[in-house]
Amino acid sequence: MVYAAFRSIGAYVPQKTLTNEDLTRMVDTSDEWITKRTGIKERHIATDDEFTSDLGLKAAQKALERSGIAKEDIDMVVCATISPDYFCMPSTATIIATKLGIKNATAFDISAACTGFVYILSIAKAFIESGMKKNVLIIGAEKLSAITDYSDRGTCILFGDGAGAAVISATENKEEAIIDVHTSADGEYADLLMTPNGGSGSAHDALDKEAAGCFMQMKGNETFKVAVRTLTQDVKDILETNNITSESIKHFVPHQANYRIIKAVGDALKMQPEQVVLTVAKYGNTSGASIPMAINDIYEEGRLEAGDLMLLDAFGGGLTWGSALVLFSPLQ
Ligand code: COA
Repeated sequence: MVYAAFRSIGAYVPQKTLTNEDLTRMVDTSDEWITKRTGIKERHIATDDEFTSDLGLKAAQKALERSGIAKEDIDMVVCATISPDYFCMPSTATIIATKLGIKNATAFDISAACTGFVYILSIAKAFIESGMKKNVLIIGAEKLSAITDYSDRGTCILFGDGAGAAVISATENKEEAIIDVHTSADGEYADLLMTPNGGSGSAHDALDKEAAGCFMQMKGNETFKVAVRTLTQDVKDILETNNITSESIKHFVPHQANYRIIKAVGDALKMQPEQVVLTVAKYGNTSGASIPMAINDIYEEGRLEAGDLMLLDAFGGGLTWGSALVLFSPLQ
């Protein structure tokens, strides 16, 4: 039997920051309001000539270096993004793979919004366990500033840019394997969080970016309520299915959308503050990049050790949601 193991992590954030104070000069808001409602203090923003693939590339280079696996042995590259370099093609994954010098690997993007990293984790696991692939590089990369409306105070305070990546590889040792990954979606809630125009559903003459409404639009309050309800249930389910109690979780790494959502789900699971990984204050919501960026933070702080059990959970546009029970199993 072949299993999939989580070998390494890497992340990258662009240098420039956008603070709450900066936002008060752009929309009618305040540092106090943003901090109280979201926990966010600042986010990082890419420059005009820095694309999603550039952020993803830097995160992927770190994950590869730390994995101890040669780039020649990577046989699949998957990127989760809702802000790809190009609207239709080429995929961001193919650009990153080529810049890394990875040749002849399967490479493609997926669109699952903020749940993107949990989705690509499940894809890597499935391909490895089926025997089709051995070493999969997964990347969550976002330049959300490119699809954010900086005149809409309901959304522009939330989002930031960044990328995170991980290498998942085959193992015969069940003791080091990813335990489980759940992924779900419900298009009935599609209108809660969307970029309404710009796709094949738009008239050709409405493709001008601003007129076509290619920026994100969100019903924040409803999204908040559905997020807390859905995530709490999903995380309870994955723990129950695998007969694992919340005390055995070393690091609870939720998607970093909003401190209040994280707190509500953490409290429902009776997580202790030291179990909960929080990066929302410094990065904001970076969608599919937020979970690997948060894992990278605890890795670089020396808090993530071989054998640690992580519980991941995420929720996003689609709507999509998911959770995962993952052991950190580095090769080196
Ligand atoms: N600054 C000041 N006031 C703001 C504001 C801002 N940036 N954004 C909205 N407001 C105002 C609203 O206009 C509204 O004013 P009104 O009462 O006069 O109409 C009031 O604050 C309350 O708005 P509401 O949308 O109910 O606030 P909220 O408590 O739900 O907080 C969010 C707004 C967006 C922070 C919150 O709903 C949220 O985080 N939702 C989930 C978003 C999310 O995580 N999305 C991604 C999923 S991956």
